[in-house]
Amino acid sequence: MADISSNFLGIRSPNPFWLASAPPTDKEINVVRAFEAGWGGVVWKTLGEDPPVVNVHGPRYGTLLGADRRVLGLNNIELISDRPLQTNLEEIRRVKRAWPDRAMIVSLMVPCEEQSWKSILPQVEDTGADGIELNFGCPHGMSERGMGAAVGQVPEYIQMVTAWCKHYSRLPVIVKLTPNITDIRQPARAAAAGGADAVSLINTINSVIGVDLERMVMSPSTAGWGSHGGYCGPAVKPIALNMVAEIARDPATTGLPISGIGGVSTWRDAAEFIALGAGTVQVCTAAMVYGFKIVQDLCSGLENFMDQQGYATLDDMRGRAVSTVKNWNQLNLQHVEKAVINQDSCIQCGRCHVVCEDTSHQAIFATTTPGARRFEINEAECVGCNLCVSMCPVPDTITMRVLKPGEVDQRTGHAVSADYANWTTHPNNPSRVAA
Ligand SMILES: Cc1cc2nc3c(=O)[nH]c(=O)nc-3n(C[C@H](O)[C@H](O)[C@H](O)COP(=O)(O)O)c2cc1C
Repeated sequence: MADISSNFLGIRSPNPFWLASAPPTDKEINVVRAFEAGWGGVVWKTLGEDPPVVNVHGPRYGTLLGADRRVLGLNNIELISDRPLQTNLEEIRRVKRAWPDRAMIVSLMVPCEEQSWKSILPQVEDTGADGIELNFGCPHGMSERGMGAAVGQVPEYIQMVTAWCKHYSRLPVIVKLTPNITDIRQPARAAAAGGADAVSLINTINSVIGVDLERMVMSPSTAGWGSHGGYCGPAVKPIALNMVAEIARDPATTGLPISGIGGVSTWRDAAEFIALGAGTVQVCTAAMVYGFKIVQDLCSGLENFMDQQGYATLDDMRGRAVSTVKNWNQLNLQHVEKAVINQDSCIQCGRCHVVCEDTSHQAIFATTTPGARRFEINEAECVGCNLCVSMCPVPDTITMRVLKPGEVDQRTGHAVSADYANWTTHPNNPSRVAA
């Protein structure tokens, strides 16, 4: 059986699945139940300075639901922990003592003043926690007070606060980045320059989840007024993966450990983050939607996958896909693919025809004979865009075939170059690796 235990910055955990800093980690009772369910670690809900924060007393969440009412995205206007600092610190100490094999990271957000950090850091270290995570990402409420994303959007502040933390604490420092920025490499580089041991990302994305049209009020609202919140859940995974990959392949931050966060609901999601360079994976929304026990599926799924692929440890698979992420201008324009419809499994619904006809390249034509419809690819028009594959309701009914060297692309009239590098010669092609 593959070994999924993790060693991130010297912090060991039985698996790479940590609960992200959020309601699931805001008190002892939650964290103990999470550890009982099998979570490898937690990032405790962000602590700030006393006096405690006051949250709204009405709806603080909103959801984007799919047609089956599955949660695709979650929006929140919650602030950092509103419990007294000393209560949190005592609970952290107790839980860490009782669960020495689990990772205990404490998330922090205090004003951007050296004294504030100098004061809180020894108190956290004294609990026996394994590390700290600097919350430079919260996009609402705290950012208006000059904290959270207000720091994470200014690389100079990131570097300065990170350096204070490295100066006043012996604990490993993980800098949690905000995605509400144009180029994620800039804050990551600033964190590295400040001496960060790792970065974690992403925190939530600025968002308004919707408008109650009958009342003409944005939602969620408090007594008729709303405010933008932070967006997370499955919908943000592609954004998070891109940002993780950008940092992993940036020569300026090569080797900087990454804790991947954003939309992880299944072991596959987690494996994708690991393949793009993440050493641990943090989860919030999926735990809030499905409960703590999903960690058991995450672990067994990842173990099975690693067994099948022959990865003995997480380090064996970490970062394996990073080198496949390129700038657009590095892509191979000699490579040609065409859609293929499997007539045996096609249910003749015509969706592929409609979307190709109306919005793409008019490359799928319909032939109608009495009592029967048939959809076929016109290779002279197909550009291999993949829209039909994505829209077809029957899995594997429309696939893409790669034109072989020498084969003529009917669309351009050119033969595919004999010397272009395609998937058959790609270093990550499993059959090639096996050979
Ligand atoms: C209700 C809620 C509260 C959160 N509170 C915090 C917080 O206090 N500190 C923090 O760093 N991130 C906080 N987050 C962000 C999560 O830690 C995580 O970065 C984000 O939700 C993306 O992960 P996910 O898609 O698995 O939910 C919060 C998220 C939610 C949904």
